[in-house]
Amino acid sequence: MTRVDWLTEEQHPDDKAIQERLTSTGSLPSHVAVIMDGNGRWAQGSGRPRIDGHREGMESVRAVVKATSQLGINFLTLYAFSIENWKRPATEVGFLMRLLESYLRKEVDELHANRVRIRTIGNTNALPKAVQHVLRSAMDRTANNQGLTLTLALSYGARWDLMRAMQLFALDVRRGKMSPEDVNDETIRAYLQTSFLPDPDLIIRTSGEMRLSNFLLWEAAYSELYVTDIPWPEFRRAELYAALCTYLERERRFGKTSAQVQNGDSSSDHISTLRQILNAFS
Ligand code: IPE
Ligand code: IPE
Ligand code: MG
Repeated sequence: MTRVDWLTEEQHPDDKAIQERLTSTGSLPSHVAVIMDGNGRWAQGSGRPRIDGHREGMESVRAVVKATSQLGINFLTLYAFSIENWKRPATEVGFLMRLLESYLRKEVDELHANRVRIRTIGNTNALPKAVQHVLRSAMDRTANNQGLTLTLALSYGARWDLMRAMQLFALDVRRGKMSPEDVNDETIRAYLQTSFLPDPDLIIRTSGEMRLSNFLLWEAAYSELYVTDIPWPEFRRAELYAALCTYLERERRFGKTSAQVQNGDSSSDHISTLRQILNAFS
């Protein structure tokens, strides 16, 4: 199989133009995290089994990973399987595990060729051995890549991660390495599995639900939230661009006043032109 170089492959001129406009703002998020929701409903809406939605959702994963990488975004985190998702019917869980395994097997060459670094967060020890094995080899192989860091949240729950962090911290206190006074923003961060990631600038949720479903609770403190009714299997490049465009229109104040955070150079004209191009594109 030939490996596509995402930066030099032939791209639709409109697609290229939009990507150039987005990157030229210099304000794209550094970390985008996605709650990929709505696969089941998407399939059932056309009378098909839920697993068809998961299969189609993989095409969206491919499209979004590629576009994110082309845009030079540094971190993409995908919520692929929550710790609560283990409660689903065994057949659906089994299908999702096999799908994950086959995605990694099929895609790792292309991801590696495009300098993607694969990481995970979550209780991955709970995954089937075969999945753990392909994950390990994909992570080892791509460990030194300098492009997009693609983090798969698998068997992940933010409360689980916080719990684990507290246990590890308590153990370090017992060993005399830490003391209770050391608890601060920085140390909490260091004990979380997400310590290698900056906080997400933008969290996208597909399929309309207005909730975080146990995703990055600590890290999302000041993330911009973008919820679209579009189900994950239909979320492709154009939808990603629309989400980024909305993100660019937001004013991130971090508790300050608007006057304090305004940097003077109004980029709103630039973004409204971008929005017009996007509307024509999708
Ligand atoms: C997201 O789609 C995939 C996972 C949670 C694994 P869902 O399977 O949750 O689909 P809906 O939300 O039931 O439609
Ligand atoms: C969140 O979706 C988890 C993932 C996308 C992997 P769910 O479908 O599990 O969330 P709820 O149950 O609707 O909150
Ligand atoms: Mg769901």
